[in-house]
Amino acid sequence: MSLIYKISFSTLLWLILTNQSNAQILSATIEQKVENILQKMTIEEKIGQMNQYNGFWDATGPAPKSGSSKIKYDNLKKGLVGSVLNVKGVSNVRKLQEIAVKETRLGIPLLFGFDVIHGQKTIFPIPLASSCSWDVEAIENSTKVAAIEASAMGINWTFAPMLDISRDARWGRVMEGAGEDPYLASLIGVAQVKGFQGKSFSSNHSILATAKHFAGYGFVEAGREYNAVNISNAQLYNVILPPFKAVVDSGIKTVMNAFNSLNGIPATGNQFLLRDLLKDKWKFKGLVVSDWGSIIEMIDHGFAKDSAEAATIAANAGCDMDMESYAFVDQLTELVKKGKVDIKIIDEAVKRILRIKFELGLFDNPFKYCDENKEKELLYHPRHLKATLELAQKSIVLLKNENNLLPLKKSQKKIALIGSLANDKNSCLGNWRIASDDNTAISVLEGLQNISSNISYAKGADVAIGKTSFVKQTIVNDNDTTGFADAIKLAKASEVVIMVLGENGFQSGEGRSRSKIDLPGVQQQLLEEIFKVNKNIVLVLMNGRPLAITWAAQNIPAIIEAWQLGSQTGNAVASVLFGEVNPSAKLTMTFPRSVGQIPIYYNHLSNGRPNAGNNVFWSHYSDESNQPLYPFGFGLSYSKFKYSNLNIDTTNNEKIKVSVTIKNTSNVDGEEIAQLYIHDKVSSISRPVKELKAFKKLLIKANESKTVEFILTNNELGYYNNNGNFIIEAGEFEVMVGTNSDDVLKKTFNKM
Ligand code: NOJ
Repeated sequence: MSLIYKISFSTLLWLILTNQSNAQILSATIEQKVENILQKMTIEEKIGQMNQYNGFWDATGPAPKSGSSKIKYDNLKKGLVGSVLNVKGVSNVRKLQEIAVKETRLGIPLLFGFDVIHGQKTIFPIPLASSCSWDVEAIENSTKVAAIEASAMGINWTFAPMLDISRDARWGRVMEGAGEDPYLASLIGVAQVKGFQGKSFSSNHSILATAKHFAGYGFVEAGREYNAVNISNAQLYNVILPPFKAVVDSGIKTVMNAFNSLNGIPATGNQFLLRDLLKDKWKFKGLVVSDWGSIIEMIDHGFAKDSAEAATIAANAGCDMDMESYAFVDQLTELVKKGKVDIKIIDEAVKRILRIKFELGLFDNPFKYCDENKEKELLYHPRHLKATLELAQKSIVLLKNENNLLPLKKSQKKIALIGSLANDKNSCLGNWRIASDDNTAISVLEGLQNISSNISYAKGADVAIGKTSFVKQTIVNDNDTTGFADAIKLAKASEVVIMVLGENGFQSGEGRSRSKIDLPGVQQQLLEEIFKVNKNIVLVLMNGRPLAITWAAQNIPAIIEAWQLGSQTGNAVASVLFGEVNPSAKLTMTFPRSVGQIPIYYNHLSNGRPNAGNNVFWSHYSDESNQPLYPFGFGLSYSKFKYSNLNIDTTNNEKIKVSVTIKNTSNVDGEEIAQLYIHDKVSSISRPVKELKAFKKLLIKANESKTVEFILTNNELGYYNNNGNFIIEAGEFEVMVGTNSDDVLKKTFNKM
């Protein structure tokens, strides 16, 4: 039966008399309520709160009679489950919540977790794509919409955003993150959290966000999924941790630990990461959840001998909730009794979990997120489709546009469209969209047909991977060229050819590392065959990671990077191809020329021999350039922008003013993302040759000039030393401002 939780009258009176703010009163009230429940809990019930099961038992069907579903179901009734994941839909959520609040002894409501990564039903561009918009407000809005739809389906907790910085396009999960830059990823992460969590949880649409994966997962060795991570302190503090620190400071409620080991210690059992840094130094008050089975995986890491030891290590390290390892629920009670885990550790974890349940308002209304009418009304709402279209348009990067082949004219007669991805309503939804409905995107073919009636389509070839799903990958049909002849015939008879090539939607994402990052299957061959008969090709790339498309970059006159743009992919791509929208996005991950250059990233350190000499003894490859194919921050527009008058005003050394003039020298209005980078020239630890520290996205009308001003404070000029302390060192700094990380104006100043 549910309990009534009361704050004592004397506490309340004290709070009022001592003039505390509403928020302080509320949080003190919650603390008191949490304490009250904790006093009433048995040790088993406490540990039950630390247990998260994967969705079990068909909630609308009869209770299971045997097997693991029965164990889970029985444990739920005994109050031994704190949260479930992957249960969605109001009726399912309601059923389980009813058991939790009506049939357990203390009636503590459940948290319902789900991977809402880039939309729930309405699918937004994959996060790597939307990061290329550099439009934090639009990104915030996308997670707000995702929260509206997820909460309408009963979900109160998303396992997003993924904040892993990565420099390795082989790693399939780069599609889930914001690219390689910690500054931009921090801003985007904070915006995503704002969108999910809202201003307060008084709204029925605000859900808990999760910062994941803590920490280092984006640096898995050789880009191979779940592999070990070995990195320096400088990288940890200055590259990997900043986005996590930023979202913790902005009030994120949960953190998920990473699968990987970090310098030999699995993140799930990493006391330094979880307790010393996150909970003590950063004062994180929320809960830490393990990743799926990651507690038990410490056995395979060679870090724990069995499930009991794994549970001990994880709990002591600061992991509060066990996702699907069953280690906490099965082992912790005994471990506490044996004195291996202090009851104080358990109490602390349980308090964190209960506190969040109170903050969400679940004790007042456990069915807060269970409204069948909202579920019917809000999914795929036209407002949401409009929001994803706009973000998709902002996420498309124009990589090349020789002789202004783009935009296409609506009057253009014979337009050929080639490539299986052009007629694919699924791949462009991308991976990690587990609540979405398959084949619901507007394909590129449909989008183009919405604008022009002169489109003729031929498949040409399939993408390498045939039968795919979220969990399985079967390679079929990767060398079938039987469709080439039709495509060649069509290309020959056309004025311009649009080729949509890239990756299948499930070719990136978790468990999808690739050792080759060129166009899979026979697509490269198809591209070259078509090029022989018609050189007027617009290549539309659709992929979940940077691809090494070096031949295309040299030969194909126009290239756009369309990523996987979600529900409105086709309309977004068509609007850019026909010039209804002027592209403005900029890459957030460097594109390599070949896989051998990886890791390649713009904010690298220098070395003792960076410059070409007249012999071989300098830092280079003998068979490849050092330069990327496309640098970080790169992206063209139908407008042309010219930068001039870089000026630095150091009158106030704590607030250095940098200004630059940008002229749109074209006849087309366009948006530009002006980027500011710094280089700390001499420091006690070598600093990157360039670091993004500010940017502005602005509309500049045709033939108009605008002056942009940036302010540099100590926050931008300092860095973390190897002990994790933020320091600012006096000396010479180079400031670079420009249209991408490679094309900048430069000036130096002295920081006192
Ligand atoms: C494993 C993934 O690493 C994590 O990101 C995800 O949230 C969980 N599975 C739950 O689905």
